[in-house]
Amino acid sequence: MDLDEALRGRRSIREFLSRDIPESLVRQLIEAATFAPSAKNGQQWRFTVLAGDAKKKLTDCFRHELRLLCKRIGEENMGSAFGSCGIMEKAPVVIMVWNAGEMGWETEKHSVAAAIQNMLLKAYSLGLGSLWIGDIFFTVEALEQHLQKPWKLLAAVALGYPTHIPKGPWDGKPRKSVDEIAEFLS
Ligand SMILES: Cc1cc2nc3c(=O)[nH]c(=O)nc-3n(C[C@H](O)[C@H](O)[C@H](O)COP(=O)(O)O)c2cc1C
Repeated sequence: MDLDEALRGRRSIREFLSRDIPESLVRQLIEAATFAPSAKNGQQWRFTVLAGDAKKKLTDCFRHELRLLCKRIGEENMGSAFGSCGIMEKAPVVIMVWNAGEMGWETEKHSVAAAIQNMLLKAYSLGLGSLWIGDIFFTVEALEQHLQKPWKLLAAVALGYPTHIPKGPWDGKPRKSVDEIAEFLS
């Protein structure tokens, strides 16, 4: 796929068909992630791929913790958290993305974010829909405890075959122009 087509065509997908994703495709996404730049080439990214029962246990934990939090802080302060949880419940695959950065550098998080973008673009090029989910941070400690890894969670990525493809790059999500966001000094 042409790079520009991938950059402009990739969109967040929040509704998926119930069709399974072959593991070989998920492996291609993770391989794409490995080509991202990383601080000192530390390759701090790690991935936990969840489907079936393993995904259900994780999303059950997420929903349970969100409900507890909601009692404490009120639904008006929960943003899109329950919606994101519902998307993870329905997506055939969820990839939990970790930062194994041992140096504790801010740049290690940035490296993992670059890897996520590679995954999303690769997913799009393979006909898969994806959603980067930061709402896991509402209950991140509980999710880390559930998965029992020695790393820090950075995001969840929901994956599946899209029920529909957004019409174009501007459909509902207009982008700021270059002039609005950049200055050119000389
Ligand atoms: C760091 C980050 C966190 C995000 N977290 C969520 C989330 O928790 N739930 C959600 O529905 N979308 C989430 N998104 C998706 C954004 O809402 C989406 O990228 C944005 O609206 C632009 O739309 P597009 O991806 O279709 O271009 C997140 C995106 C990023 C980069």
